Amino acid sequence: MKNLILFLLGLLPLFGICQNPLIIPDTLSGDTLNLTLQNGQFSFFSGSQTNTIGYNQDILGPTLFLEKNKEITIHVTNSLNAPTTLHWHGLHVSSENDGGPHTVILPRQVWSPSFIVKDFAATYWYHPHLHEHTEEQVTLGAAGFIIVRDSQEASLNLPRSYGKDDFPVVIQSRAFDANKQLVMATALDTAILCNATYDAFLAVPAQVIRLRLLNGSTERIYNLGFQGNRTFHQIASDGSLLAAPVSLTRLRLAPGERAEILLNLNSLQGQSLNLLSFNSELPNGYYGATRPGVMPVATIPGYTNNPLNGSDFQVLQLQVGQASLNPVLTIPTTLITQNPYPVAQAAITRNLTFQPDQMGPTGMVNGPFQINGRSYDSSFIDYRIPIDQVEIWEIQNSTAIAHPFHIHDVQFYLLDIDGATPPANMQGRKDVVLVPPMGGTVRFITKFDDFANDKVPYMFHCHMLSHEDDGMMGQFVVFDNSIAIDETGDISISMYPNPVQEQLTIEGLVPSTLELINISGQILLIKKTTNSQEQLNLKDYAPGVYYLKIRTNDSVLIYKVLKK
Ligand code: C2O
Ligand code: CU
Ligand code: CU
Repeated sequence: MKNLILFLLGLLPLFGICQNPLIIPDTLSGDTLNLTLQNGQFSFFSGSQTNTIGYNQDILGPTLFLEKNKEITIHVTNSLNAPTTLHWHGLHVSSENDGGPHTVILPRQVWSPSFIVKDFAATYWYHPHLHEHTEEQVTLGAAGFIIVRDSQEASLNLPRSYGKDDFPVVIQSRAFDANKQLVMATALDTAILCNATYDAFLAVPAQVIRLRLLNGSTERIYNLGFQGNRTFHQIASDGSLLAAPVSLTRLRLAPGERAEILLNLNSLQGQSLNLLSFNSELPNGYYGATRPGVMPVATIPGYTNNPLNGSDFQVLQLQVGQASLNPVLTIPTTLITQNPYPVAQAAITRNLTFQPDQMGPTGMVNGPFQINGRSYDSSFIDYRIPIDQVEIWEIQNSTAIAHPFHIHDVQFYLLDIDGATPPANMQGRKDVVLVPPMGGTVRFITKFDDFANDKVPYMFHCHMLSHEDDGMMGQFVVFDNSIAIDETGDISISMYPNPVQEQLTIEGLVPSTLELINISGQILLIKKTTNSQEQLNLKDYAPGVYYLKIRTNDSVLIYKVLKK
C-alpha cells in the first residue's frame, strides 16, 4: 500500500487502536413517526463542543424502519430558526410528499406527509433539501437512515439484527475551523466521520456481518476496501437487493450512493480489520483523487493541501469478538429477481449535458455547473413526463470532474457507462450514478409510474451538495393524460375540509363550472355557479381519490379531493 498517511489531530494510527465506539443511531418504527429538527451540541473531539443540528437528537437522526406496503405518517417539526425541508432520498412517493425544495417547513411549523411504502428492501436516507441551504444543513448534522424491509428480503438468510450483525455506516468527511466548529470549506474536509464518530471502531461478532454503507459527504468519493484486500460481497445497491451477491475487493461510493455489503469474519475472532478508502487508486477527475480534475491545471483552492486526497486512509476499524447465538455463517448464492424495463419500451431518450458556467480550468472543476445550459430556476420545468412513460436518460459530462447524478421519484437501471455494460454490482436498482469526467456518458432506463401532480415538481441534480446548491439541478413534473390540466388563469381558491366526509366548501370562486371527476376520469357531478362560495355534498360517494375541475372563462384548475 502506498501513501498510507497519518493525519490531523493526534495522527490517526492506521493499524493501532481507534478511540471511539461507532455510534449506532436509535431506531423509529410504527405507523406514525415524529422527527424534530433541532439545534444541538456535539463533542467530536475530547475537550471541544461543536454546534450541530439533528433530528430528535444533537446530530444525525434515528434510523427509520419502514415496511413495504404499509402506510405511514411522519410528523416533521422544524425547531430551527431557519426554514428547512425533509426529503426521503430514494423513496418512491408523490411529489408533494417528497420533501423537495418546494415543500418548505418554516420555523416552528410541522409538515406531515402520509404515504404507502412502495419501495424494495434496501437502505435509503433522509436529509434537508432547501435550495441553497442543503450543504449547510447536512454539514451541520441533518441526515438519517431509512431501512425498508419486505417479504423477499425477510425470506433470505441475511444478517438483520440492527446494531448486532447489521450496521448502518454513514461516511462523511468534514472540515472544522480552529474552534472545532463545522465549516463548509469543501476542500478542507480532512476529518473522516462514521455516524458522526471521529476515529471510530466497531465491535463485531466473528460471523457474517452486514454493513449498510452510505456516502453522506458533500463532494468526496470513497474507494472502499479492507485491510489485506479481503474479499467482501455487495448485496444491495441504492434501491434493492442485487440479483446475487457480487464479490469485490473495492467499492467506489459517490455522494448519495448506498451499498449493503456482507463481510465474513468467521475466522477473525480477537483480531481487528480496517475498512479503508484507497483513494490513491482513484483516477484524476474524481473528487478525492490526487487531482480533482482531469487536467493538471484544473484545481480546487486548498485541495492539494488536504492529506486525504490521493491517499489511502482509514474509515472504520472493526474489532472482532465472539460470535452471537445463531450467527449467519455463509453468504447466500442468489438474492432477488431483477426486472429491468426493456429498452424497446422506452418512449423517448432525453439528453442531459453537464457544463461549467464558464470555460477555463477553474470553472471546469469548481463550477458553478449547469445542466443543459441552465442553472436551477424554481419556476422552470425542464421536463413534463406523462405518467407510466418508460424513458431512457442519457447524461453527458462536459466538465473535468465526475458528478454523481441523482433523480427523485424513481429508481433506474443502468444501460451503460461510457458505452460499456455496467459492472454486476451496478446492475440493480439505483438512484445515484457517477458520470465520468471529460465527455463521460451514462444511460439509464426508468419508468415514471404511480404519481402525477402538475403543481409540484420532482428534482434531478448533482449530489455533490455544493454543486446542487450552486444550481446544478433541474426539475420535472409527471402528468396524468386522462386528466388534462390547462392553467391560464390565476385565481386563488380554497377548499376545505380535505380529506372530506360530507360537505366540501369551495371559496374564492369566480363564475365557473364545477365538475367532480373520479379517478378513471368519469364526471360524476356538474354544477354551474356565479357565487364566490359553493358547497358540494360528497356523502354518497365511495372513499377514495376524486378530482374537482373548476372551469372558468379563461382557465381550468384541477384539485385532488380525498373522500374519507
Ligand atoms: Cu439526496 Cu435530491 O437528494
Ligand atoms: Cu433524492
Ligand atoms: Cu457536481
